Amino acid sequence: MSKDMNSPFRTKTVEQSIRDTEEPEHALRKSLSAWDLTVFGVGVIIGTGIFVLTGIAARNNAGPATSLAFVAAGIVCALAALCYAEFASTVPVAGSAYTFAYASIGELPAWIIGWDLVLEFALGTAVVAVGWSGYVRHLMHTNLGWDLPTALSGPDAGGSFDLLAFLLVLVLTVILVVGTKLSARITAVVVAIKVTVVLLVIIAGLFFIKGDNYSPFVPPAQPQTTGGGWTAPLVQLMFGYEPTNFGVMGIFTAASLVFFAFIGFDVVATAAEETKNPQRDMPRGILGSLIICTVLYVAVTLVVTGMQKYSEMSATAPLAEAFKSVNQPFFAGAISLGASVGLITVCMILLLGQTRVFFAMSRDGLLPRVFSVTHPKYRTPYRATVLLGGIIAVVAGFTSLEKLAELVNIGTLFAFVVVALGVMVLRKTRPDLHRSFRTPWVPVVPILSIAASLWLMLNLPAETWLRFGIWMLIGFVVYFLYGRRNSRLGKAGADAEF
Ligand code: ALA
Repeated sequence: MSKDMNSPFRTKTVEQSIRDTEEPEHALRKSLSAWDLTVFGVGVIIGTGIFVLTGIAARNNAGPATSLAFVAAGIVCALAALCYAEFASTVPVAGSAYTFAYASIGELPAWIIGWDLVLEFALGTAVVAVGWSGYVRHLMHTNLGWDLPTALSGPDAGGSFDLLAFLLVLVLTVILVVGTKLSARITAVVVAIKVTVVLLVIIAGLFFIKGDNYSPFVPPAQPQTTGGGWTAPLVQLMFGYEPTNFGVMGIFTAASLVFFAFIGFDVVATAAEETKNPQRDMPRGILGSLIICTVLYVAVTLVVTGMQKYSEMSATAPLAEAFKSVNQPFFAGAISLGASVGLITVCMILLLGQTRVFFAMSRDGLLPRVFSVTHPKYRTPYRATVLLGGIIAVVAGFTSLEKLAELVNIGTLFAFVVVALGVMVLRKTRPDLHRSFRTPWVPVVPILSIAASLWLMLNLPAETWLRFGIWMLIGFVVYFLYGRRNSRLGKAGADAEF
C-alpha cells in the first residue's frame, strides 16, 4: 500500500490484489487455458467491426485504403497489447486495466479507468446486439419473407424498440450466470463458424476481384458536407483544417472507426483470475488472438474492396452485399448466417468483461460490495451480471449504434493510455516483481503506445470527446461521493492507524 492511505493515489499492492481473489466467497473458478483464452479473444475480436464498419469506413472515409486503416489500428493495438500482456501476467486478477491501474498508479486513476471500461463494455455489448439484430432481421426477410413489426425493429430501422437485441442480451445474461466454462464451450463452436465465414470471404472472394476497383486506392480528399464542426475529427478542428473525408487523413479517420474491430483482446486480460496459469497463458492468449485477427481483417478488406467499388458498398451488410454484387447469392446468404451466429459470441464476451470489471470494483468497495458475492453453486458474480445484463438489454433495445461505437473507441483508447503509463510506473515502483512477460524496450514501447492511442483519439469527432468528457465527469463525482469513503483499501488503512 502507498504510505498516505488518505490519498486518492493510494495503491493496492500486487500481493494484496492476488490475496483478495483467494477469499472463498469472492473467488472465481480457475478453469481457462491459453487455448480457451485465444478462442475467447478471437470470439470477441471478430464482430461488427469487420462485418459492418468496413463498409461504412470504405464508403465514407478511405475507399480501398481502408485496408491500411486496419493496419494502422492493428499497430496501435499491438503496441497496447505488449503493455497489456505484461500487466496481465504480473497482476492475474479480474478487472483488466482497472486492476492494473490500482496496483500501479493509484485508486483514483483506477476508478477512472474502471468507470471508463464500464462504458466501453456496456455500450460495446449494446452496439453488437443491435448489429446482430439487424443481420437476423435481414436473414428472416430475405430467406423466409418474415418481417417484425416496424415498432419492434429498433431505432435504426425506423422503429422505437429493438426486441431482438433486447432478448439476446437477456439470454446471454442467463448463460453467464450459469458459468464461464459452459460459455467458453459454446464460444468455441461459434468462433469456428465465424472464422470459417471470414476465410470463405477471403478465398471465394479472390476469384471476383477486379483491378479497376482499386483505383484510386487512396481516394482524393473531399470537403465534409454534413454535420458541421462537431462531427469533424478533433485533430482537424484543432489545427484549423477544413474538415475532409478521404485523402491521407481519411485513412486515420477510418482507423479511429474500425478500431472497434480490434476491441476484445483487452477483454482477454479481464479473465486473468479464471486462468489456470496466467503467467504463461495470458500473453499467449492476448497476442495470439490479436495477430490472427489483424491478418484476417486486412485480407477481408482487400478482397471486398476489390470485388465492389467502394462508393457502392453497403453500410449494413458489406461482406454479404459484395457477393451479391457479383451474383453469388449462395455465398451472400452463408455469410449473413455466419455473421448472425458469430456476433452472439462477441456480445457475450463483452458482457462477461463488463461484469468482471464491475465485480472487481465492487470487491474493492468502490461500488457496493453486494455485487461481488459469487453464486454458491456456479461461482459467478451473479448479482453484477443480472443487474448489468438488464440495463444493457434496455440500452440495446432503445439505441442506434454508430455514435455509440465511437464512444466505445475513445473509452478503450483512453484505457490503453493508462495501461501504458502503468507499465512504466510499476517498473519503477516494483522492479522486484516477477514478470513472466516483459514489454520490450520500456519506456520506448509504452511511450509509442500512448502516442499512437492519443493520435487515434484525436481522429474521433469532437462530439465524441464531449460525450466522453461528460461520462468521466459523472464518474469523478461518484468516486468522491461513494468510492473514496467506502474503499476497502482506504478502510484497511484507517484501521491500521488505530
Ligand atoms: N471487436 C468487436 C467487434 O468488432 C467488438 O464487434
